[in-house]
Amino acid sequence: MGDVERDLLGVAETVAREAAELARSYRDEAIRQVDTKSSETDPVTAADRATERLIRTRLAELRPGEPVLGEEEGGGGGAGAGTVRWVVDPIDGTVNYLYGYPWYAVSVAAQVDGVSVAGVVLEPASGRCWAAERGAGATLDGVPLRVSAAERLDLALVGTGFAYRPDRRRRQAAGVAELMGRLRDIRRSGSAALDLCAVAAGWLDGYFEHGLSRWDWAAGALIAEEAGALVRLPGELRGPDLLLAATPGIAEELTAALDEAGLFDL
Ligand code: IPD
Ligand code: CA
Ligand code: CA
Repeated sequence: MGDVERDLLGVAETVAREAAELARSYRDEAIRQVDTKSSETDPVTAADRATERLIRTRLAELRPGEPVLGEEEGGGGGAGAGTVRWVVDPIDGTVNYLYGYPWYAVSVAAQVDGVSVAGVVLEPASGRCWAAERGAGATLDGVPLRVSAAERLDLALVGTGFAYRPDRRRRQAAGVAELMGRLRDIRRSGSAALDLCAVAAGWLDGYFEHGLSRWDWAAGALIAEEAGALVRLPGELRGPDLLLAATPGIAEELTAALDEAGLFDL
């Protein structure tokens, strides 16, 4: 891996650490300033906005002129072919953040032509730093990550998530109910970025979710892939927007089970 990627990873980590510190220290005040977005159950706090602002300011200083796509402010247009665009979720797991559940993270990725080349997922509550560079592996606090050795779907622990829109989450839950009898168990953690990191660490054998946005997966999917997961990004499988990450030993069986449970075409 060349100096450019290393520099991108270094910048992603620097910026994510500063952002994580802001999100953590600002929480008590920020959770008193909450608005909602796509539905009444989809919150945005003052910390989501302030954290993205900080990330944008720091990226502009460290990597001037590179466009940034972020959940709260949008943007990101104008990246030419072969150039870097940053993709940022200032707080992934805002509902957890709001409730004081420590499973939330800052996600910062660098993409070139829409493909993630470096990514960091930083957990403010624990300080854990998940990172990956394309072609150079994935790490948790500097220690290399490897997916689980699971080979049987009926013994697999699989993560998922549900959309904020009630009609869609009902259909997702119906599909998950179908799947339930074919797995060891299901987890719903509340942070897509960290679910992907959990696959990288072998804490989950697989993960799937519909309707994610680019900022949810840009860093985490690279971390999972670099740890050896088979990853299918939204648009790569049949159906509109299913993302799948799994250890190779169960990937095929899980894909077939999702299809049979009607989870491709929601
Ligand atoms: C959400 C989380 C959640 C997932 C949702 C995402 P947010 O992101 O990643 O786990 O199920 O689809 O929107 O809103 O907390 O940034
Ligand atoms: Ca998110
Ligand atoms: Ca978010």
